[in-house]
Amino acid sequence: MTKETERFTLTRIGHPHDLRDQMIKDVRSGLTAEAKSLPSMYFYDDHGSALFEEITQLPEYYLTRAETEILDTYADEIIAAVHPDELVEIGAGYARKTCLLLTAIHEREAGNVYVAIDVSEAALQHAGANLTRTYPWLHVRGYLGDFGSDLDAVPRRGRRLVAFLGSTIGNLTPRQRPGFFRAIASMLDEEDGFLLGVDLIKEEAVLRAAYDDSAGVSAAFNKNILTVINRELDGTIDIHAFDHETRLNPESGCMEQRLRANREIHARLAAIDLDVHLDAGESIHTEWSCKFTREQIETELGAVGLRTTSWWTDSENRFGLVLAKLSSASSA
Ligand code: AVJ
Repeated sequence: MTKETERFTLTRIGHPHDLRDQMIKDVRSGLTAEAKSLPSMYFYDDHGSALFEEITQLPEYYLTRAETEILDTYADEIIAAVHPDELVEIGAGYARKTCLLLTAIHEREAGNVYVAIDVSEAALQHAGANLTRTYPWLHVRGYLGDFGSDLDAVPRRGRRLVAFLGSTIGNLTPRQRPGFFRAIASMLDEEDGFLLGVDLIKEEAVLRAAYDDSAGVSAAFNKNILTVINRELDGTIDIHAFDHETRLNPESGCMEQRLRANREIHARLAAIDLDVHLDAGESIHTEWSCKFTREQIETELGAVGLRTTSWWTDSENRFGLVLAKLSSASSA
């Protein structure tokens, strides 16, 4: 049994400067546009990742509990269907639900490698330390980067189960999804599997509560994106001048998060020499959180050559888990 620290490595994918250059570009274009927006990726500094952890414990935020229930029930079935040498998790975060899959992997004597890809170094460190301690047989390979662009940089170590859990897919806009699914398909070989967690379309009141909880954690999470921008770009945006807002977009079926200015805003981002102006009542779009039906997801996966081989839901039909393989792969 090797020491815990020897079983955990952390690698940056892409250039260290890429993430910052990307942020500068995103903030400049997002905050000078007519309809202002910021990519939700910037929620997840160390504090933001911790706030999201807190969200997953809220009574209103059913997503994590529902998905955990599915994994709890079907992890063994999932692992038996792929028998992976490595579990590759995209947007791993603190990797809490991952344990259910890892335990099943060990019981089935599949592989001993867990690859975690995330934009938060703190979350990767936490996951790496935690998982190597819990599983003395496990090697954790952390990759720090944005899942939007860097997936090819992760080397392959055998048959793969690629997992994208938590309905993080909902953060991509409907227009971004095909490209992302194509990138996933190109990570896969014949025998590999893609495990995707999707939040299902449901009653608006349930969705609203999940994104605007009574304890105000969702609001704090949303506003944290401005704290991140201020810190990274030497900014003066007054966070208290913004209100958290969430709504269901009936056309796209997506929950949308915004920050609405409750007064006129004049701020400066000194690091990029940018003046930011918002009228009172103007908003910044901060997050898409799209909801799905089984048919819709199967169609979108099918369009990039991924065939759904299994579909599981929780006992209340709130959340779905899809297992897909390349269509060209022969069915076992
Ligand atoms: C981590 C992207 C799945 O969209 O439900 C929680 C993030 N945003 N509350 C989601 C989130 C507001 C979450 N995901």
